Amino acid sequence: MKEQIKKLKEEKDAIILAHYYVEPEIQEIADYVGDSFYLSKIAATLPNKTLVYCGVSFMGESGCMLSPDKKVLMPDAKADCPMAHMVTKEEVDNARKTYEDLAVVCYINSTAEIKSWSDVSVTSANAVKIVKNLPNKNILFIPDKNLGRFVAEQVPEKNVMLVEGCCPIHHAITAKEIRELKTSHPDAAVLVHPECSEEVTALADYIGSTTGIIQYASSCKEKELIIGTEIGVLYELKKRNPDKTFLFPTTTPVCQDMKLITLEKILHVLKTGENQIGVETKLADSARKTLTRMLELAN
Ligand code: 13P
Ligand code: SF4
Repeated sequence: MKEQIKKLKEEKDAIILAHYYVEPEIQEIADYVGDSFYLSKIAATLPNKTLVYCGVSFMGESGCMLSPDKKVLMPDAKADCPMAHMVTKEEVDNARKTYEDLAVVCYINSTAEIKSWSDVSVTSANAVKIVKNLPNKNILFIPDKNLGRFVAEQVPEKNVMLVEGCCPIHHAITAKEIRELKTSHPDAAVLVHPECSEEVTALADYIGSTTGIIQYASSCKEKELIIGTEIGVLYELKKRNPDKTFLFPTTTPVCQDMKLITLEKILHVLKTGENQIGVETKLADSARKTLTRMLELAN
């Protein structure tokens, strides 16, 4: 199957992009693997005609809006991030009515429609930097209340308002499980994603994006690391650090949507061109502005 994928990729001038949360065998065959920021940044720079996004739909949508001349294929059209829908237009409209200088900051884990209501997109890798540098004092951060709270803590000079959205996978990681791991491995460092709850981030030595966690784990002196994020990162962590031990909560954090991506499905979309993602022109124009603003501000 891997050989067939390789051959078809060349024939169709296609490139495979994968998030660190997809299965190891997908990361192994992907041309580029990264976190959400990397995957959005790289899309516009690739010369290929077709991009196959091994991840969830907001990733393909973002790739499609940033590279409108390319064909963007999703191996599984049902792979979606539940958090990407967790805010209503009414919540955004109400905040806009209340605060004249409001900036609506949306996590990239959001639908194109939610992006179109917003002023700028962010990822977990650049949210603090971007919010800090916005001229607005009042910020509505949507839809992730956990990343939003983390940003608010780092940027106390701003009034950051939140909604009730969250990642069900990261939010389910408990402080109790992290504490138990710390008790059995007292020398281990605790590295967690900002999508985790306040109780969990309070126990961390490092809080950062998926790539941030991988980089920190690879450069820190500790040989044992407690990881509070999705299990898919283990593949890259082990690859870069064969001498280190990685400990995950016993209730393993698994994003079932990311795991929907299989080699069979990649082969199928490459063969048939099915599951091409498209965003209606007017919506794409409006949503794209938040992504291009993110890329400008992140630089
Ligand atoms: P990052 O890729 O920004 O670390 O986000 C994690 C995530 O949950 C992606 O869906
Ligand atoms: Fe969404 Fe969480 Fe899955 Fe990321 S890990 S795609 S935020 S549900």
